[in-house]
Amino acid sequence: MVNYKDLGLVNSTKLFKGAVNGGYAIPAYNFNNMEQLQAIITACVESDSPVILQVSKGARNYANQTMLTHMAEGAVNMAKEMGSDIPIVLHLDHGDSFELCKSCIETGFSSVMLDGSHLPYEENIALTKKVVDYAHKYDVTVEGELGVLAGIEDEVEAETSSYTKPEEVEDFVKRTGVDSLAISIGTSHGAYKFKLKEGEKVPPLRFDILEEIEKKIPGFAIVLHGSSSVIPEYVETINTYGGNLEGAVGIPEEQLRKAAKSAVCKINIDSDGRLAMTAKIREVLAKKPEVFDPRKYLGPARELLKELYIHKNQKVLGSAGHGKELT
Ligand code: G3H
Ligand code: 13P
Ligand code: ZN
Repeated sequence: MVNYKDLGLVNSTKLFKGAVNGGYAIPAYNFNNMEQLQAIITACVESDSPVILQVSKGARNYANQTMLTHMAEGAVNMAKEMGSDIPIVLHLDHGDSFELCKSCIETGFSSVMLDGSHLPYEENIALTKKVVDYAHKYDVTVEGELGVLAGIEDEVEAETSSYTKPEEVEDFVKRTGVDSLAISIGTSHGAYKFKLKEGEKVPPLRFDILEEIEKKIPGFAIVLHGSSSVIPEYVETINTYGGNLEGAVGIPEEQLRKAAKSAVCKINIDSDGRLAMTAKIREVLAKKPEVFDPRKYLGPARELLKELYIHKNQKVLGSAGHGKELT
């Protein structure tokens, strides 16, 4: 058993308290490899932001569970070496079983999500509670989910979304004992969040549902998945240099900024990082066909990723400058 505290990680409790009281959101950035992790840590150290390092089941399989434990410990030590003490959480994204959550807890995760949003309500409660009961013995925090997001979540693909029902949240939170709750108010996973016709604008998030939820569970930590903005500049670069991402569109940054000022205290971003990396790699390889040293294209991609995360922390989530106060 690897205890996350021995790796220098923290659970999400203090971070969410700070975010709820401070009117900002903690960034939860997904990673699968070393360059992404370096970019997240460097960006969060430079902008003094608390951070949640997020790993999906697929990412864990890709990177290897033992490697991940050491990467997380390395990330903590790298931040320290840079003279920073920002709080760092290692979180399982979209856990789909008790066994996976348990295995993550045993290998150093300080926070896990049990995503039972596709299950019937009572089954979601029972499975989430089972994970909470186990996780809390080790001081590991747990995120649950109510309402379904459209898009792809690991191997699960949902064609249509269903918004979270405000009348269910209080009962769910009480009966499961979760530490945070992911909700569905119009975000979705991936780079194609809306199918827009010519001249159509992105529909606004359902802030009315968010307000209803806040009233039912005041001060409770709310999580937004599917919160990439699908930055047009990256999509354009990808398409210019041989890619094909026609019609990719995300959540406008002003809407995320508004959400971050409310009870939303964790915002999940994966696709924007993927787009930034791909854009830069495509650009370098197209402009410099002689390059075959991975550092020559992964290095610039890592730099662009860092800039992206600093921008998010400063201008979208508002988490920049809140790292020190939480340590
Ligand atoms: O919500 C899903 C995340 O973007 C992770 O995606 O399962 O392809 O690693 P993944
Ligand atoms: P995006 O696909 O919008 O980046 O969402 C990521 C996410 O929700 C990870 O759990
Ligand atoms: Zn998600």
